[in-house]
Amino acid sequence: MDKIQLHDKFFVPCIPNEEILKFIDELAAKLNADFNGCVDVPIILCILNGSIPFTGELLQRINFPCQVASTKMTSYVGTSTTGEVKQDLPLTCSVKDRRVIIVEDIVDSGYTIQAMKKILEREGASETRVCTLLFKPGAYKTGEKIDYIGKEIPNDFIVGFGLDYDELGRNLPDIYILEQN
Ligand code: IMP
Ligand code: MG
Repeated sequence: MDKIQLHDKFFVPCIPNEEILKFIDELAAKLNADFNGCVDVPIILCILNGSIPFTGELLQRINFPCQVASTKMTSYVGTSTTGEVKQDLPLTCSVKDRRVIIVEDIVDSGYTIQAMKKILEREGASETRVCTLLFKPGAYKTGEKIDYIGKEIPNDFIVGFGLDYDELGRNLPDIYILEQN
């Protein structure tokens, strides 16, 4: 893994794909244990676009009956959150009286999760849980419960495995961190 450039910035390797897949193995094992024998069909809600690779890997490891849905939330411009979360695409299915597992690439300030939970509550979901690949405790502001965390990371800007810098870098299999000057 080498240093890469996206737009005007340089990024250095941080978490290799094999390690990411290990966190996903662990998260899936926890979900499988918690939802073992469920008689409902929980909804796995992919938050577009960042969670696409994570949701794809997670799904292949889930062994209880589940339905996949998505919605698009945005708040980031460049390397920081605007603090204002928008739902750019509506939920692809009804969540009324359904249990929903929100699948996020990363929880940073927590504003996205907070907004998502509010929408799901309004739409009548019976329960919502949050499953995130990465969590930045140093940036967390909202205090919503995060049920499943793959890995805690420092408050640095990262890209790869779904995460972008102004839409570039989502396709990288590994995670990279912004180079310190
Ligand atoms: P929050 O609303 O501040 O918790 O941020 C959530 C969203 O911001 C995530 O789903 C990502 O799309 C984006 N985000 C947060 N941190 C990073 C980062 O380090 N790199 C790229 N995107 C990020
Ligand atoms: Mg996201």
